[in-house]
Amino acid sequence: MTEIRLANVTKTYAGGQTAVDAVDLTIHDGEFFVLLGPSGCGKSTTLRMIAGLEPISSGDLFIGERRMNEVDPKDRDLAFVFQNYALFPHLTVKGNLTFGMKLRGVPGPEQERRLAEVTAMLGLAPYLDRKPGQLSGGQRQRVALGRALLRDPVAFLLDEPLSNLDAKLRAQMRTELVKLHRRVARTIIHVTHDQIEAMTMADRICIMQDGKVAQVGAPMEVYRNPANTFVATFTGSPPMNLVPGRLEHGAVQFAGASLPVDVRASGGDVTVGFRPEDLSLVAAPARLPINAEVVAVETLGADAILVASLIGGQEVGMRVPADTALSPGQPIAVHLDPDRLRLFDPGSGKTLPRR
Ligand SMILES: Nc1ncnc2c1ncn2[C@@H]1O[C@H](COP(=O)(O)OP(=O)(O)OP(=O)(O)O)[C@@H](O)[C@H]1O
Ligand SMILES: [Mg+2]
Repeated sequence: MTEIRLANVTKTYAGGQTAVDAVDLTIHDGEFFVLLGPSGCGKSTTLRMIAGLEPISSGDLFIGERRMNEVDPKDRDLAFVFQNYALFPHLTVKGNLTFGMKLRGVPGPEQERRLAEVTAMLGLAPYLDRKPGQLSGGQRQRVALGRALLRDPVAFLLDEPLSNLDAKLRAQMRTELVKLHRRVARTIIHVTHDQIEAMTMADRICIMQDGKVAQVGAPMEVYRNPANTFVATFTGSPPMNLVPGRLEHGAVQFAGASLPVDVRASGGDVTVGFRPEDLSLVAAPARLPINAEVVAVETLGADAILVASLIGGQEVGMRVPADTALSPGQPIAVHLDPDRLRLFDPGSGKTLPRR
């Protein structure tokens, strides 16, 4: 069992900047774990402390039973790909990829077999004889990823390994990484600011906000039940709609509508959250309609996002069929399933627990 565990881990840089603030995390053996969050929230710092490239200011890091704070990076048995993927400039792509296997004395035929596998997966066959200086950023990134994948570590630490790839290659690589993870059954800690990457690949996602853990959970759990408004709006595209409302006698009032809710809070001001796909257009005299007005319809191809203005002026996004023919200014009635509502404390942004 090689669980990776951070206990109350803090990183304060020399300038006094606290980049990671009292983080508790347990990454299970064999798990595809994604650290997700906006630029500057402390993802890379967290990963670099696990790798041993950045000293931990306070708290403890365990890999399995062993405390690792002072263990040299090379003795941690982790393979990493970092944002500034350093390749050996004087070696060819093939040389870069096989360097580690040579060092570890992997037999020739085995080296060739694994090289062929990773080369095919990453589409690197045409570049094997080139030097890193003769590659594009995305190609170099794939070589760095390939080099890590050719190791046999306790865990792979990947810092935005797909960031330099075009959309098509990135989608392809997401699938390849998931397949590879299933095959090798090793822990992967993958850092990204791309919520689609996190949603599609992770067993569990950790969302970071200002150096702290905002929420840890399975992708759909985080998506459906965000712990706070930050998580609610950092996931989904477009994100969760948030509008001000008021809780009274088991119902929430917002934008001229009143919907029953089941929360363990008595009353007062709340922030009402719902996802674009939880709204649907209805014929006017519907039960519990929300009245709104079309602002714009943005076609995405498979479907469209209708931007609607609610009573009170809040704009919300709703997912509608691509052939929705509505013009700006047109009045509409919208249905929202009360089960899909999420309520947040308007002060702290924290979710109000449901009954
Ligand atoms: N060597 C350093 N010295 C001082 N501050 C640093 C250092 N490295 C990072 N920071 C600061 O720590 C915070 C977290 O940085 P980090 O690189 O961990 O963020 P990140 O989540 O990986 O962001 P990105 O998505 O942009 O890569 C940032 O505010 C950053 O400016
Ligand atoms: Mg980073």
